[in-house]
Amino acid sequence: MTALTKIDTLDGIEKIYSGKVRDLFHVDEEHMMIVSTDRISAFDYIFPNGIPGKGIILNKISNLWFNKIDFIENHIVETDFEKFPERFKKYPEIFKDRGVIVKKTDRFDFECVARGYIIGGGWKEYCDTGRVSGIELPEGLQMAQKLENTIFTPATKADEGHDMNVPIDNMIDELGREQAEYLKEMTIKVYQFGRDMVEQVGIILADTKFEFGLDGDKIILIDEIMTPDSSRFWDKSLYSVGKSPVSYDKQFIRDYLDTTDWDKNSPAPALPDEIIEKTLEKYTEILKKIESVTL
Ligand SMILES: Nc1ncnc2c1ncn2[C@@H]1O[C@H](COP(=O)(O)OP(=O)(O)OP(=O)(O)O)[C@@H](O)[C@H]1O
Ligand SMILES: [Mg+2]
Repeated sequence: MTALTKIDTLDGIEKIYSGKVRDLFHVDEEHMMIVSTDRISAFDYIFPNGIPGKGIILNKISNLWFNKIDFIENHIVETDFEKFPERFKKYPEIFKDRGVIVKKTDRFDFECVARGYIIGGGWKEYCDTGRVSGIELPEGLQMAQKLENTIFTPATKADEGHDMNVPIDNMIDELGREQAEYLKEMTIKVYQFGRDMVEQVGIILADTKFEFGLDGDKIILIDEIMTPDSSRFWDKSLYSVGKSPVSYDKQFIRDYLDTTDWDKNSPAPALPDEIIEKTLEKYTEILKKIESVTL
């Protein structure tokens, strides 16, 4: 399979937006088609080469979770290619297993992050300030340590530049207390649901990011959920506090990039074949594990 990284102009189908990983197409006033491509991004840069089939894996994982979670509504309207409007069915290589028709929502411009362990950007912020998103954490935590309670660490969705962790108070100022508290509650609830499921197959869901949107006056889950692009999945049997966890997610790419001389501030270099293959193996592995607990 060759990687689907770029979708050219399609007959009778209007592209609305091209994100780092997904392309959005117009369906009708209330709906759009989201296609998960094989693009991969890290440190906010898209790499020139993709990971063949990654979009299909992400789409499957996200849909499995959406199907399973019944305590909050989500944006999914149709995942079955056979039921897509005819104009999309002319392009199975693009829309089959990759496309989902969703409700267009008014997106909240916050990344809603739940963390059960301290790692990555959260670990860095903790080392610098003793806090993450304004939450004071106990002294002396080690890298990758499990937190006493799941914490909610929202970040702004910056149109340009990096997302920035912000205290929930910023969210309250912008959205009001009721909505901000609901986003927090749901973020933690969905995370804990996923965490408890994957634990059964020896995986630690260390953290994850959600996006929410308004469908009329209802807050629903949008985007992708609990995929290896948006989450950290660790091998429980190899976990050891203070050590870099063995993961089934994008961390593998970030770790590889740290060994190169790329400055993360200029166009991203192509990833070596070996890194592409290994990443695909990891994504395939976590798909299998999630399938085994959600089916
Ligand atoms: N149901 C929805 N309603 C509105 N927007 C949505 C919905 N589902 C997903 N999105 C948005 O579609 C885009 C998906 O593309 P992708 O994830 O590739 O973007 P991205 O590079 O992460 O973009 P961004 O920086 O805008 O988040 C995101 O901007 C996401 O917020
Ligand atoms: Mg995104």
